[in-house]
Amino acid sequence: MSFGQMPLANAFLNKKDFSSEYFYKLEPAFCEHCHTFQLTEQPNPRAMFHENYAFFSRTSNYMITHFQQFSHWVIERYLHNKQPFVMEIGSNDGILLENFAHQGIKHLGIEPSANVAEVARQHGVNTECQFFNDELAQQVQQQYGHADAILAANVMCHIPDLHSIGQAVSRLLTPKGVFIFEDPYLGDVLDKTAYDQIYDEHVYLFSAHAVTNIFKPYGLELINLQYQTTHGGSMRYVLARNKQYDIDSSVTKQLTYEQTQGLHKMATYEQFRKNCEHSRDTFTNTLYKKKQQGQQIAGYAATSKSTTVLNYCQIKSDLIDFISDTTAIKQGKFSPGMHIPIYPYETFKENYPDTAVLFAWNHKQEIMAKEAEFAQQGGQWLTHIDL
Ligand code: SAH
Ligand code: TMP
Repeated sequence: MSFGQMPLANAFLNKKDFSSEYFYKLEPAFCEHCHTFQLTEQPNPRAMFHENYAFFSRTSNYMITHFQQFSHWVIERYLHNKQPFVMEIGSNDGILLENFAHQGIKHLGIEPSANVAEVARQHGVNTECQFFNDELAQQVQQQYGHADAILAANVMCHIPDLHSIGQAVSRLLTPKGVFIFEDPYLGDVLDKTAYDQIYDEHVYLFSAHAVTNIFKPYGLELINLQYQTTHGGSMRYVLARNKQYDIDSSVTKQLTYEQTQGLHKMATYEQFRKNCEHSRDTFTNTLYKKKQQGQQIAGYAATSKSTTVLNYCQIKSDLIDFISDTTAIKQGKFSPGMHIPIYPYETFKENYPDTAVLFAWNHKQEIMAKEAEFAQQGGQWLTHIDL
């Protein structure tokens, strides 16, 4: 299926750069062989992850708590060695690893985006500014030894060459070591028609079937999984070397569930395509109607996901006046492709629009808790999906 010409989701830009903006074709496909939902054209990772990377994990307090809990869970369940070594792929600003660092646990974060890596270091997180792959894994193994836990959150879906990751993980893990990662769950994307989870950085959307198939050739099996409500519906997968652990019943349950949901059938994805087209038409119609009524409409949070929505629906600043966001690096710039101005959060707070489009619908709970006043003053929330 095609979402048309798309800019990079996090390539917020200045006016002077409008004419040289980069576009690619956003065209995902389902692989009937390995069961991953994946992009057919992947922009170069070096164009996406660099010293001006715009996503800082710490912008969500909810995620700070989530990662604290994640660290406790890993420590209690899997870190039984006296001096364990924990490695994280895509450690960003250190939101997860700092919880291990504070307990004096030997750790290493691999993070190619220099600006976020620097913030992690400021939080006491040992960080290597590199892309993780099998070549780097060899160096890590020589320098640090084998890992008791390799962690990753919202990054496995970013890495085009998963074979290299399979090799690297199988090289690095101790015999009883675990590879734990969480990512947006394909089942939720289909259920919610959350097509905005599809963008350049999300090369893949996984399911339990996909994860099983991808890591099988590397002697790794899925031993446990846990559904997470984060990022609009995610799945945490735990993998280990074959036959080291009993397979938890959650794995078989999820595999069966995916079969009953038809995640393996092409017809499911044909239906998804239709649902996306329907969603686009109803969402743009709603915005046009509101505009005709003379409403002022603002976007709440310039998320990566919003780039897909805005460009697929062709929503420009004649419909959405501005988008507010708390991230300094995005403010004063324009949204990728549609060039809607991004203003600081205070602009929203001081000039409530009639309608706010909640692009950060994955942070709804946190945002509703702090924005009660907006609705009390008559403001309306709108999302492109039913929550
Ligand atoms: N784990 C954090 C950050 C997710 S954003 C969280 O869940 O909030 C994805 C991060 O992965 C970015 O910081 C990006 O720079 C990094 N990344 C992308 N490709 C990578 C690779 N090949 N190896 C390691 N990190 C990578
Ligand atoms: P994400 O959906 O990719 O996690 O991006 C979240 C974006 O939303 C990030 O740019 C910060 C912004 N944001 C706000 O502006 N206000 C908020 O309250 C929250 C939670 C996020």
